[in-house]
Amino acid sequence: MKQLLTIVTAIALTIPAMAQKFEGLALTPPMGWNSWNTFGCDINETVVKETADLFIKLGLKDAGYEYVVIDDGWMEMERDPETLLLVPNKQKFPNGIKTVADYVHSKGLKFGIYNCAGTKTCGGYPGTRGYEFHDARQYAQWGVDFLKYDWCNTGSNGGYDYQQNAAASYAIMRDAIYQAGRPMVFNICEWGDNDPWLWGENIGHSWRISGDIAHCWDCEMSFGTWSKFGLWPIINMRKDIRKYSGPGHWNDFDMLEVGNGFPPAENRTHFVMWCMLASPLMLGNDIRKMDEPTRLLVTNKEVIAIDQDKLGIQGFRFMNLDGFDIWVKPLDKGEWAFAFVNMTEQKRHLSYNWSDFYLKDGLADREIQWNKQKFLLRDLLAHKDCGDTSQKLERDIEAHDIIVFRLYEKK
Ligand code: GLA
Repeated sequence: MKQLLTIVTAIALTIPAMAQKFEGLALTPPMGWNSWNTFGCDINETVVKETADLFIKLGLKDAGYEYVVIDDGWMEMERDPETLLLVPNKQKFPNGIKTVADYVHSKGLKFGIYNCAGTKTCGGYPGTRGYEFHDARQYAQWGVDFLKYDWCNTGSNGGYDYQQNAAASYAIMRDAIYQAGRPMVFNICEWGDNDPWLWGENIGHSWRISGDIAHCWDCEMSFGTWSKFGLWPIINMRKDIRKYSGPGHWNDFDMLEVGNGFPPAENRTHFVMWCMLASPLMLGNDIRKMDEPTRLLVTNKEVIAIDQDKLGIQGFRFMNLDGFDIWVKPLDKGEWAFAFVNMTEQKRHLSYNWSDFYLKDGLADREIQWNKQKFLLRDLLAHKDCGDTSQKLERDIEAHDIIVFRLYEKK
């Protein structure tokens, strides 16, 4: 008997652990900061450490921001010829990556890094193709908690059976992370090209749904083979994918451009809309230079609570009414968020009679029967209670501005 047990144990130990992602992570959309939108590849140890310090000083950590993520540009142009390990750029990160990760951890925060499923990153640095297990072990040793994994240079060279197969490529990296043994949020970044919402749930914790964000309201900037998109092209790009987003597996509308040159009204609309969409909230500005209105906006806990609602259901466009886009998000405990965006170029008056518009959300399997239910209203940007849904809502809203309410029943 004893002998049999020894044999069974020996067999069990030789079978690799079941392929899976780390569960229990990103149960609400990840919040943090990513270097790319402001710094591009021009990133360094000082910026990352100062950013981590400011997470505490500016109240970002207190508001829920957690991950400090270094995007592309952190490596030397070649792997170490002996060990084949990735080498941190000696000028930008003279003390290596572990020092930076330790510093971030010492502030009670989490640390993230970037690489790519191709032979090179989008910035031309060494990619992970063929080195997945090698790199994952390295990240685990450094103390990485979050990996953004891109999709450049995944074309014809390489000769692997997962060539150009995004689901298979990302599954290999998922397995590598799991084998490395350190829980990491796995951020799939293939821009929505291979319908990641159809296969991503068992592989990563979020997936980008679009090409890169640009800080404009409604533009598309073409760079030949790829484009950058403004807020509304990203919001409107995908139809019917909200059902794929949820706790542990989110549609990612890209890093925020809040504080990167938008006028105040558009800053507000951008931030509130990302919350209505239950998107990850990764700040993309230089928080060392953030002005006070932007800081107050991105640390508004009442608005953030819409994003972080534990039901985890992405909001939807309810209707467009007389120049206003109306968005609704079902919340936990039978509550709702309603946002009204003035899509026009002029200040406009909103006159909205709640009970005129029957509301049902098939995904949440919930409806509002206005004749039977009266909700109290909380204006989340103004931090004010403001009546209830039995009264008509009357507001002037500036061009491109937004107002957002939590609807809740008397406790
Ligand atoms: C791609 C990604 C961006 C950023 C850059 C880095 O374009 O979509 O978010 O990571 O690569 O080169």
